[in-house]
Amino acid sequence: MLCPSLLLSVAAFAGATAAQGAPTYANLAVPTGTPIPGNYTGALRPQVHYSPPVGFMNDPNGMFYLNGVFHLYYQYNPTGLTAGNQHWGHATSVDGYTWENQAIALFPPAERVYVFSGSAVVDVNNTSGFFPDQDNGIVAIFTLAHYNEDGSDGPQTQAIAYSHDEGYTFRYYDQNPVINSTSSQFRDPKVIRYGDSWAMVVAYSQEFALGIFTSPDLKEWTWASNFTHHGLLGAQYECPNLVKMPVRDQDGVTVDEKYVLTLSVQPGAPLGGSTTQYFMGNFNGTHFSTLDAATRLTDFAKDNYAAQFFYGMEGNAVSLGWASNWQYTQQVPTGNLEGWRSAMTLPRVNYLTKAPRIGWTMVDEIYDPKPILGESLKTETMGNGRVTVDYSEVESNALYIEANVTGINVAKLTSFSTVNLTFKSPASDESLRSGFYFGGDSPFFVDRGLLRGFDNIFFTDKFSVADVYYDSLTPKTASWRMQAVIDRSMYEVFLDGGRHAATVLFYPTHPLTRVDVAAQDLPEGAQVSVAVWSLKSTWAGMANQQGTVLGNVTGTSGHATAAKKRIIYEGGFSA
Ligand SMILES: *[C@@H]1O[C@H](CO)[C@@H](O)[C@H](O)[C@H]1NC(C)=O
Ligand SMILES: *[C@@H]1O[C@H](CO)[C@@H](O)[C@H](O)[C@H]1NC(C)=O
Ligand SMILES: *[C@@H]1O[C@H](CO)[C@@H](O)[C@H](O)[C@H]1NC(C)=O
Ligand SMILES: *[C@@H]1O[C@H](CO)[C@@H](O)[C@H](O)[C@H]1NC(C)=O
Ligand SMILES: *[C@@H]1O[C@H](CO)[C@@H](O)[C@H](O)[C@H]1NC(C)=O
Ligand SMILES: *[C@@H]1O[C@H](CO)[C@@H](O)[C@H](O)[C@H]1NC(C)=O
Ligand SMILES: *[C@@H]1O[C@H](CO)[C@@H](O)[C@H](O)[C@H]1NC(C)=O
Ligand SMILES: *[C@@H]1O[C@H](CO)[C@@H](O)[C@H](O)[C@H]1NC(C)=O
Ligand SMILES: *[C@@H]1O[C@H](CO)[C@@H](O)[C@H](O)[C@H]1NC(C)=O
Repeated sequence: MLCPSLLLSVAAFAGATAAQGAPTYANLAVPTGTPIPGNYTGALRPQVHYSPPVGFMNDPNGMFYLNGVFHLYYQYNPTGLTAGNQHWGHATSVDGYTWENQAIALFPPAERVYVFSGSAVVDVNNTSGFFPDQDNGIVAIFTLAHYNEDGSDGPQTQAIAYSHDEGYTFRYYDQNPVINSTSSQFRDPKVIRYGDSWAMVVAYSQEFALGIFTSPDLKEWTWASNFTHHGLLGAQYECPNLVKMPVRDQDGVTVDEKYVLTLSVQPGAPLGGSTTQYFMGNFNGTHFSTLDAATRLTDFAKDNYAAQFFYGMEGNAVSLGWASNWQYTQQVPTGNLEGWRSAMTLPRVNYLTKAPRIGWTMVDEIYDPKPILGESLKTETMGNGRVTVDYSEVESNALYIEANVTGINVAKLTSFSTVNLTFKSPASDESLRSGFYFGGDSPFFVDRGLLRGFDNIFFTDKFSVADVYYDSLTPKTASWRMQAVIDRSMYEVFLDGGRHAATVLFYPTHPLTRVDVAAQDLPEGAQVSVAVWSLKSTWAGMANQQGTVLGNVTGTSGHATAAKKRIIYEGGFSA
């Protein structure tokens, strides 16, 4: 991660902690050994997405899956509403939606050194030697960003820390860094297992190169190859991810495996700010080569960045990303109104498949939402017409919606043939609009311009995608389908089973409480099948009587003590 204002925040933080005595870098406002309590009741606070208890969050980090538990770490400033003072926050989930806050996992190891993005692996065979008598040891691999006394950038080096308790607490390796550097633009290592070796991709950000390194033990790393000047450059490369991914045929049967390399750029995305592109190809342990020369984007809107794949889901690829954009993330109104900024996207199941016209695509299927489905509010099948659901009584203010259109006689389509999904606030007359044009280039659009809760020049409001999977030219009758989640201030849509996906932030002044699904000018015989469910709030169930979510406080009591701090920092850091 790196953003324009980080320097300022870091300088401010260093100044504020110039107190004498060791450890001078420990910010006493940040609790150790216990999660930070959170208030998840705000009108803009997502109820089925992860957001931090307080403060500012960015990139997902260190994601792994072990013994039925998803571990999500994240770039975290627990003491401010903008980036800076970077820690690794931590949350866990069994179902991929209900996240329990855990104690902060990684703290800055020294004054003017911050813990930037990285990954984590399960060292089942004790290759690192950190784990006598254990097959569930965790090693985190991340960037330490050093800043000079005047606040200017120092080197970014790659470091490791290890955990004996499945990722709840970590110790820094005493011989960090594991990859040294003099560059201030060298970051975000992602490590995977390949054969009997470890492989890392890491960004030489402003040289538009990814380095691939290998290691037998996670400590000694050897440079193996560079992947340079691919795809969109933006102004820098960040947060690469490499994952083995199933290739499925049209019937959903896994027929092959390939690798996917994701690469985030920031700033300089085609839609402005930050975006994530991906390449599909072959990886042989030291070199990645692409299947074709195309650059593809994971989303068609602006609010999905730096996604990671969970380590340890062999045979499956499950990802989630940071649902924001550096262009406005530090200004969004949740900060001043509710004391938090940024959420993660929903988890997504990814696979590769052949696609008409463009050859290949990575599918982003919504991770099975069954665990969070509440009441069925509506199921209806119609031709042209309208289905309306008033959801003002739904406590979570969050919905899951499906719309399937079948039996479309493509010869009879007009340029007005549309199916729209529109959310409204009758109280303020604000709305969030989306919809699909079946004729012509078959675009799907989302428009967040009719909401008044956030005014920012970079918060552009209209997004669209030409849906190449809905190919009206070939068949005589076609079908089209969408799935959507609306969650107070977040909208995620998945078209054609996730062949196109988008995450869209929106900020109403009043909650949106009515949804309309409307169809017009569909040819005779077309059927629109609509289903609307309420979603259960994943946070409400964890709140105490005061409405506060304490997170996992078992085995810990209250705030940091000097003794606990010493344990966390033991092992120290040397650069
Ligand atoms: C939680 O946040 C809501 C909405 O911002 C606020 O009304 C409420 O007072 C807060 N609760 C506590 C315990 O601070
Ligand atoms: C661990 O070692 C076993 C036995 O040598 C091997 O089969 C397995 O692939 C290894 N696991 C990893 C993740 O390297
Ligand atoms: C793990 O590695 C360490 C260091 O090589 C070694 O002392 C220990 O016996 C190993 N444990 C197991 C179970 O292999
Ligand atoms: C890392 O590189 C810096 C700058 O060249 C150097 O001062 C430092 O000693 C190196 N650290 C290690 C552990 O090699
Ligand atoms: C790999 O790329 C980096 C960044 O451009 C460069 O510093 C390094 O020398 C390259 N490595 C080799 C062996 O070419
Ligand atoms: C991996 O691919 C590179 C580039 O094609 C090649 O030089 C190297 O020998 C390959 N390694 C293995 C183990 O096949
Ligand atoms: C869908 O929205 C578009 C854009 O506002 C509009 O032109 C079209 O008439 C709408 N269709 C329906 C069925 O409401
Ligand atoms: C839409 O189609 C999918 C896939 O065939 C099906 O699983 C789902 O139940 C359908 N939903 C509705 C509302 O018809
Ligand atoms: C709570 O945290 C402890 C470590 O402090 C961990 O062992 C335990 O599994 C966690 N429980 C839950 C439900 O997350």
